[in-house]
Amino acid sequence: MKQYKVGIIGATGMVGQRFATLLESHPWFHVTALAASARSAGKTYEEAVAGRWLLSSPMPESMKKMIVFDAEKDVDKVTALVDFVFCAVNMKKEDTKALEELYAKHECPVMSNNSANRHTPDVPMIIPEINADHAQVIDAQRKRLGTKRGFISVKSNCSLQSYVPAIHPLMDLNVTKVLACTYQAISGAGKTFKTFPEIIDNVIPYIGGEEEKSEQEPMKIWGHVENGKIINATSPSVTSQCLRVPVSDGHMAAVFASFEKKASLEEIIERWENFKGVPQELNLPSAPKQFLHYFREPDRPQPRLERNLENGMAVSIGRLRPDTQYTIKFVCFSHNTLRGAAGGAVLMAELLAAKGYLD
Ligand SMILES: NC(=O)c1ccc[n+]([C@@H]2O[C@H](COP(=O)([O-])OP(=O)(O)OC[C@H]3O[C@@H](n4cnc5c(N)ncnc54)[C@H](OP(=O)(O)O)[C@@H]3O)[C@@H](O)[C@H]2O)c1
Repeated sequence: MKQYKVGIIGATGMVGQRFATLLESHPWFHVTALAASARSAGKTYEEAVAGRWLLSSPMPESMKKMIVFDAEKDVDKVTALVDFVFCAVNMKKEDTKALEELYAKHECPVMSNNSANRHTPDVPMIIPEINADHAQVIDAQRKRLGTKRGFISVKSNCSLQSYVPAIHPLMDLNVTKVLACTYQAISGAGKTFKTFPEIIDNVIPYIGGEEEKSEQEPMKIWGHVENGKIINATSPSVTSQCLRVPVSDGHMAAVFASFEKKASLEEIIERWENFKGVPQELNLPSAPKQFLHYFREPDRPQPRLERNLENGMAVSIGRLRPDTQYTIKFVCFSHNTLRGAAGGAVLMAELLAAKGYLD
């Protein structure tokens, strides 16, 4: 496979740090540039992150002495050093959108973790196992941006990365409605127990903007491509409540779903266990061998036991049973900064590389 030079924009943040560790020994992608805000620019990565390294695995040795660029001012320097960038920044929506377009217009593809471009109709929002075909809108996007290589591709919000994969293999049963209550880890807010002590012995029943994302983004993922744009699906209707809970990593969801066609519980479990997507078919480096794992034990999945399943890239499901108001209910779980953020973006980049979009 071809080798690619990559940059991490927002390298000093929580998701950026995950990118750094995931890419340290990646077989196709090699980190050649790190960038963040003007506050970090000019420092070595080690200096810029001093006192705020958030992961249990250490900072990659090969990146410690790299000088961090200013993501906005040094765009020419960064794009000269890389084939494409991963982007995870904490900026205002319009500033993030402008930054991502700036890189794309410098003929540098952007693999984004940010929400700013998720609803742009010619920007694909890809969960590689589910809607790999949405990549075809990149041609139309390049026309709009006036680029030959540059484009933006985004991954969806972390909250839905367990229940959209679990519902997807059931879609041909005519799923009409989905209710998902999420129990979300503190790393989703870029925090640890040290920096977020008010979450200990507590639940915070509000995460700004999260319920809207959890309800609206699935409709784009289940949408179809028409004339260079993604047309959102109109069903199932999705409703959600999102709570912050005292868990370090991994978002849980309690899900209820109704569908029109009949299927036994065993048949549903079989659909989950047999489900494969393009990443499994192409054997992409970060693809879990088994995407959806069903646990028959009544007290699973649990964050502490399941978060690192298949390197944090699998979805765990359990407690499937009939419901009195919906057809079924179950619980599902995925790692929010791996499958739900950096790992999901790396898998998306592997898919786009395998399909030739990063050449
Ligand atoms: N945490 C998660 O689980 C998760 C999951 C999915 C998606 N996301 C998304 O990923 C993005 C980053 O999240 P995070 O949790 O990693 O945030 P974070 O820990 O607050 O890190 C933010 C990063 O953005 C950089 N930054 C801030 N202002 C900038 C500017 N003007 N120009 C360039 N870089 C700037 C920061 O650089 P400095 O260090 O120099 O300030 C830092 O590298 C957000 O859009 C978030 O919604 C997060």
